[in-house]
Amino acid sequence: MDCDIKTLPPEAVYPLLVGSVQPRPIAWVSTQDLLGVANLAPFSFFTVASVKPPVLALSILTPAGGGEKDTLANIRATGEFVVNVVPEHLAEAMNLSCGPYAPEVDEFDLAGVGKARSRQVRAPGVEQAPLRFECVLNQCLALGDGAGAGNLVLGEVRHVHVADEAWRDGRVASKALALVGKLGGDEFSRAEAAFSLRRPGA
Ligand SMILES: Cc1cc2nc3c(=O)[nH]c(=O)nc-3n(C[C@H](O)[C@H](O)[C@H](O)COP(=O)(O)O)c2cc1C
Repeated sequence: MDCDIKTLPPEAVYPLLVGSVQPRPIAWVSTQDLLGVANLAPFSFFTVASVKPPVLALSILTPAGGGEKDTLANIRATGEFVVNVVPEHLAEAMNLSCGPYAPEVDEFDLAGVGKARSRQVRAPGVEQAPLRFECVLNQCLALGDGAGAGNLVLGEVRHVHVADEAWRDGRVASKALALVGKLGGDEFSRAEAAFSLRRPGA
């Protein structure tokens, strides 16, 4: 199959992209609004963007009805967010938090997870998440207009919390984290046995 992507309708572009770029890590992002109402939602358009300074990148799409998702509105309003990682035992709670709930709904309660006090931002983290990054907004880039347009959020990491059980010999124990990833459609991947490849010249 070959195609000029400009000839595809947007509803065909989405499954092509998310079915091809996978598995994607999941940022379970917690924020709060200016009144202190907490919000929690997952985003798999997510990666590391820089090490010095440490920056995480996630893209929040403009919804079909227009406007902004609550996460993006809160990040713009407060300049802060927390990225929580998602081990398999939290996958169902993470999925519950992705519904199109009204801004006044606190998805921590809905998903049945606790709030962990953050050290350097006001937004709480997910208590049960074994790893949390407290971030401040570096910049937000609008990649287009209207439904489906990405808003690339770059967040500088200010504080990292790693649970004791996920920290071994001075590094993150990825096996202990057992994080899930996002595939196309409704599918997720689980952490299977990893393998190593030595880089040329290393
Ligand atoms: C696993 C998973 C990954 C998702 N990834 C994204 C994403 O990368 N970008 C996006 O805009 N929405 C993504 N969504 C949908 C949002 O989570 C959903 O629109 C949510 O309602 C946004 O919540 P908010 O309005 O509280 O910010 C994803 C949903 C799931 C379940």
